[in-house]
Amino acid sequence: MAAGAGAGAGARALRILSRQLFQAHGFSNGSWRSISTTFKASDLQIEHSKHPREKPDSNKLVFGKSFSDHMLTVEWNAEKGWDKPHIKPLQNLSFHPASSVLHYSIELFEGMKAFRGADNKIRMFRPDLNMERMHRSALRACLPPSLGVSRTNHALLFVIIGPVGPYFATGGFNPVSLLADPKFVRAWKGGVGDCKMGGNYGPTIYVQNEALKQGCQQVLWLYGDKHEITEVGTMNIFIYWKNEQGEVELLTPPLDGTILPGVTRQSLLDLGRQWGEFKVSERGMAMPELLKGLQEDRVKEIFGAGTACVVCPVDRILYQGQSYHIPTMENGPELAKRFLKELTDIQYGRTSSDWTRLVI
Ligand SMILES: Cc1ncc(COP(=O)(O)O)c(C=O)c1O
Repeated sequence: MAAGAGAGAGARALRILSRQLFQAHGFSNGSWRSISTTFKASDLQIEHSKHPREKPDSNKLVFGKSFSDHMLTVEWNAEKGWDKPHIKPLQNLSFHPASSVLHYSIELFEGMKAFRGADNKIRMFRPDLNMERMHRSALRACLPPSLGVSRTNHALLFVIIGPVGPYFATGGFNPVSLLADPKFVRAWKGGVGDCKMGGNYGPTIYVQNEALKQGCQQVLWLYGDKHEITEVGTMNIFIYWKNEQGEVELLTPPLDGTILPGVTRQSLLDLGRQWGEFKVSERGMAMPELLKGLQEDRVKEIFGAGTACVVCPVDRILYQGQSYHIPTMENGPELAKRFLKELTDIQYGRTSSDWTRLVI
């Protein structure tokens, strides 16, 4: 559930949210010179929508389809730097047909949630990690980060918000099946797989359709000649198993540049290490190692992890024409459920934690 569930609440939620974001990004501390290297929450200009819409029915929400009545925009250009931030009615963007965003995909995005808690307060979950990731993506895309260094002449930072329903159409805690076909590659060493740029996502739709055609719901992205496991759909992947040394291990692939450094990934690693009950590893695993583990009945759970779904169990992998059952659901899934509860307790304020930032 995102902050400011639609209608007139949007502008206020955006104002509070943008103040939080500016602080998380360090924007509010900058000074205005002839070229503005930053912008300030106190300069915010607000224009309210004259046509506020009905709030959507919260029981019928789907993921990413409803938006609030307002948006935040901040323009940047090479001569003047950052302009003042504006909150205004949600509206279409207009740009020149030669704009490089359309042809070279010079853009980036971030996605995060705010949660209305049991106490009716609204919290964001580790927004500093999203802002750090956005900063890294901006540097790689040559878009202006807070210092305004850029190859682009014009740029627009905008924020849209809206309430969300379940990420997967099946809803709830249902397992998904994965197509693992090494002929498709999401990212590669030296590329931008670790940045949140649109160019990483558009080309995956064809592969996602291929997965659907073959009776699978998501794609398990493999990399290299050894068919190393990297990510699942738009989630990081976790394997909970007994390794060849007989140790109970939670494993996720390392941040080698091909993987998006997920906020949820980091949080599960942090929690697992804090509990100290099993080995927690950031290391590579190739398909043969996983298949051997499955054959020897050592794999307990496989699940994806991301902001949208928190954790998502996996029950089947289709690889080289063969379907492999993953016993995630038969095993509880104890760990995936524990992570889901622990994280959502923090996000909804049932457990206090310095991972949340109170919005209002
Ligand atoms: C490719 C990819 N991997 C992993 C994730 C999970 O990241 P996070 O936990 O920050 O949502 C996302 C979602 O943003 C993603 O797009």
